[in-house]
Amino acid sequence: NWIMKDFIEEKVKEIKEKTKGEKVLLGLSGGVDSSVAAALINKAISKDLVCVFVDTGLLRKDEAKKVKKQYEELNGLNIVYVDAKKRFLDKLKGVKDPEAKRKIIGREFIEVFNEEAKKLKEDKEIKFLAQGTIYPDVIESVSVKGPSHTIKSHHNVGGLPEDLKFEIIEPLRELFKDEVRKLGYRLGLSKEIVGRHPFPGPGLGIRVIEEVTEEKVRLLQEADEIFIEELIKNDLYDKVSQAFVTILPVKTVGVMGDVRTYEYVVSLRSVNTIDFMTAKWSRLPYELLETVATRITNEVRGVNRVVYDITSKPSGTIEWE
Ligand code: XMP
Repeated sequence: NWIMKDFIEEKVKEIKEKTKGEKVLLGLSGGVDSSVAAALINKAISKDLVCVFVDTGLLRKDEAKKVKKQYEELNGLNIVYVDAKKRFLDKLKGVKDPEAKRKIIGREFIEVFNEEAKKLKEDKEIKFLAQGTIYPDVIESVSVKGPSHTIKSHHNVGGLPEDLKFEIIEPLRELFKDEVRKLGYRLGLSKEIVGRHPFPGPGLGIRVIEEVTEEKVRLLQEADEIFIEELIKNDLYDKVSQAFVTILPVKTVGVMGDVRTYEYVVSLRSVNTIDFMTAKWSRLPYELLETVATRITNEVRGVNRVVYDITSKPSGTIEWE
């Protein structure tokens, strides 16, 4: 706690000195990292911070609504909401490669920010872009062996275009996830924000394996909501580090009543980890897995098979793409 207090004071000072009264734009995702970054920067330069929440259409179900409600409680935070659902989906049309998707999503984010910055410029030019990049994002994106050995480009690190017009501020760059959470509580954020499972910047764009379509995103949102709901109901949400559903680009044969079906497979993944650099799959109770599988196949039209991912990291990463 000692160290946390020093860390906050040091960062507040650093941010003030760096920005010198200039405006800072921050991409707020609703996730832990960007929320904590927002709270920290808000503490330093409240009136000069503008948060932009981009609805990419690749968010969890009703996420935009939930985020709005959550942040209303955080007073003083200046938030602009942008509906960019259509443009993200358009750009992703036909794209299958995971790294290509990450780059497209990262670039589109920056483009949206650029546009918002231009709109805000009439008031005052925006010089800085703040991001909730944390330490594991940095190491996983920048391999010591060179770019060809990069594991994956976490979109807030690897996907930035070269002609970027902002100077970047990343106050959480040295921190691990558990430290970010401690910092969040220290800054007065609620458990609802700080205790959330992490959600990747590219969102469901990398949980729809291969091509992203509106229909698959919808199936995924429905399935994911059921999985999370059951974890919460069974008091397991806080006991696992991250849980989510991925939709595979495969249809398999099934049976419903006595009719043949040919529909998508989804995979449940739940992991336990401290730092997200390595992870073990969670030993979830069979009963819970059964309930989730039954509910998903009954309630989500278009999915007839559910599998549970028992891969640890390594060899699998946490996300599938
Ligand atoms: P992986 O899949 O690399 O994920 O084992 C480790 C953690 O990072 C999250 N993740 C991301 N977070 N931008 C982010 O902000 C990204 O591009 C990104 N990719 C993965 C992932 O959900 C897990 O918590």
